[in-house]
Amino acid sequence: MGWDRAGIPSQFAVIPRGENAIVGYCGFYHHAEVPGEIEIGYRLHPDYWNRGLITETARAVRNHGFHDRKLSRVISLIHPENIPSRRVAEKNGMAVEKQITFRGFPTLVYAMAFDEWLAWRDAS
Ligand SMILES: CC(C)(COP(=O)(O)OP(=O)(O)OC[C@H]1O[C@@H](n2cnc3c(N)ncnc32)[C@H](O)[C@@H]1OP(=O)(O)O)[C@@H](O)C(=O)NCCC(=O)NCCS
Repeated sequence: MGWDRAGIPSQFAVIPRGENAIVGYCGFYHHAEVPGEIEIGYRLHPDYWNRGLITETARAVRNHGFHDRKLSRVISLIHPENIPSRRVAEKNGMAVEKQITFRGFPTLVYAMAFDEWLAWRDAS
């Protein structure tokens, strides 16, 4: 909320069409440990897994970041064993750039630059 009030992208609620319930969130994170980067992060209530909701949501958030917020690059920080989360990033055109230790855990840095987004958008 603080970042949002400062005009910097923040979190969005996930509300399935036709339902009056918040079932997850997706949005932009800023981590002091990873300065200069903006992460797209997400979480969904388990009852709503495996419907494609977060892939659709993360895509919209990514597009908002590049198209409306004019971000030059976004990342996602994902534990190597978090296969569902990795699938979301990969289906949205992000690729592993490197592995780091983040808050004590091995973490893959998925990244996408503005130019890569343009090419991905034109090809899909
Ligand atoms: C990460 C997380 C949000 C992924 O949830 P998810 O349900 O697997 O992701 P989606 O909503 O995009 O659903 C994708 C799956 O739905 C299935 N699906 C069913 N109907 C679909 C449809 N109409 N369209 C697209 N996919 C559909 C697909 O098969 C797809 O699985 P696949 O990629 O293996 O093919 C969820 O596991 C979670 O909340 N985990 C805990 C928090 C977490 O780890 N967050 C990320 C930290 S890095």
